Amino acid sequence: MIIIYGSSPLDEKKVDESYEEEYECTKQLGFEVGLINLEDLMVNQRPDLATKRLRNAPEPEDVLYRGWMLKPQEYARLYEALALKDLYLINTPEQYKHCYYLPESYEKIKGHTPRSVWVPMSEVKDSPDAIQTAVSQFGEQPIIVKDYVKSRKHEWKEACFIPSAVDDEHVRQVVHNFITLQGEDLNEGLVFREFVPLEFLSYHDQSGMPLSREMRVFILDGKPVYISNYWDEGQDAAFMEGLGSFMEIARTIESRFFTMDFAKQEGGSWIILELGDGQVAGLPDYADPLRFYEHLKRAFG
Ligand SMILES: Nc1ncnc2c1ncn2[C@@H]1O[C@H](COP(=O)(O)OP(=O)(O)O)[C@@H](O)[C@H]1O
Ligand SMILES: [Mg+2]
Repeated sequence: MIIIYGSSPLDEKKVDESYEEEYECTKQLGFEVGLINLEDLMVNQRPDLATKRLRNAPEPEDVLYRGWMLKPQEYARLYEALALKDLYLINTPEQYKHCYYLPESYEKIKGHTPRSVWVPMSEVKDSPDAIQTAVSQFGEQPIIVKDYVKSRKHEWKEACFIPSAVDDEHVRQVVHNFITLQGEDLNEGLVFREFVPLEFLSYHDQSGMPLSREMRVFILDGKPVYISNYWDEGQDAAFMEGLGSFMEIARTIESRFFTMDFAKQEGGSWIILELGDGQVAGLPDYADPLRFYEHLKRAFG
C-alpha cells in the first residue's frame, strides 16, 4: 500500500502544506508515501507528468490518495496514469463517483437521509421552471440547496438555507447566490434537500452557521475504520451504540473507502447526511491524524 499526496505548488519534492501533518503521520507509521503534481493533473491535463515521481510496481499494488477533491474526470485520469505503472487507486473511477456525487448513491441511503431532488445545470439553463418544479415537491417545508458535491454552508443564510420552498422569490435569490458563489467550481447540478432540524451545538466562530451534533465515519471494505465528531471534541457514546444499525447500508455502498456523515435529529434518531470518497474527505478539526492512519494500517494488515 502506497499513500500519495499532492505536492507543494512551490516545490514538487515537498508535500502540500495542508497535508503535511497527515504525510508525516504516514511516514512515521512506516507506510510508503508518494507525491503527485496536481497542477499537472488538473490544469495542464498531463497525468503522465503528474505521476512521474512514482515508481513502477513490479506487480499490481494498491494506492490510496489523500488530498484535495478531484472531479471524477480528473480522478479517472489519475487512475489510468497510475494503472500504467501497475499502481491501482483503492477506488475505481466508478466507485469514486458513486460517493462523490449525491445523486449516484441516493437510492442506497434513501429513507435514512433527508429527502432530496436534483436538477442538472443543463436543465437549469434550458428550462426556467425546472427549479420551481423541483422544489414544489417540498411544499412549505424549509430546504437547503447544494450542488452534487458541496454546499456553501458557511454562507448559510445567503446561499444554503431556504426557509420555505414555496417562497419563489427567496428560492430564486438563494439559488442565484449559490450559483454565483460556486462559479466555475459548481459540480454538475443543484440538489435540494428537505431541511431536518438537528440537535444544536453552537454557532460557527467565523461564519455563524449553526453547528449540529454530527459525526464522520470512514469506512474501509465495509467496516468502520475511523470515527470522529465533526464539529466538537470528545466521544459520542450514544452514536457509537447506534452505528451498527447503519452498517447494513454501508455494506451496499459501491466503494472500498468512503465516508458516511451522520447527524442527530432534534429529539429524534441519527440520520445520514452525506457520503464522500474517503480519499478526498477531510479529517474533522478534532480528529487525530496519527490514530486515523494507525487504524488504516491495522486494517490493511
Ligand atoms: N437536510 C439538512 N437538514 C439540516 N441541516 C443540514 C441538511 N443538510 C445539510 N445540513 C447542514 O449543513 C451542513 C453542510 O451540508 P453538507 O451536505 O454536509 O454539505 P458539504 O458537502 O458542503 O459539507 C451539514 O454539516 C449540516 O450541518
Ligand atoms: Mg458535509
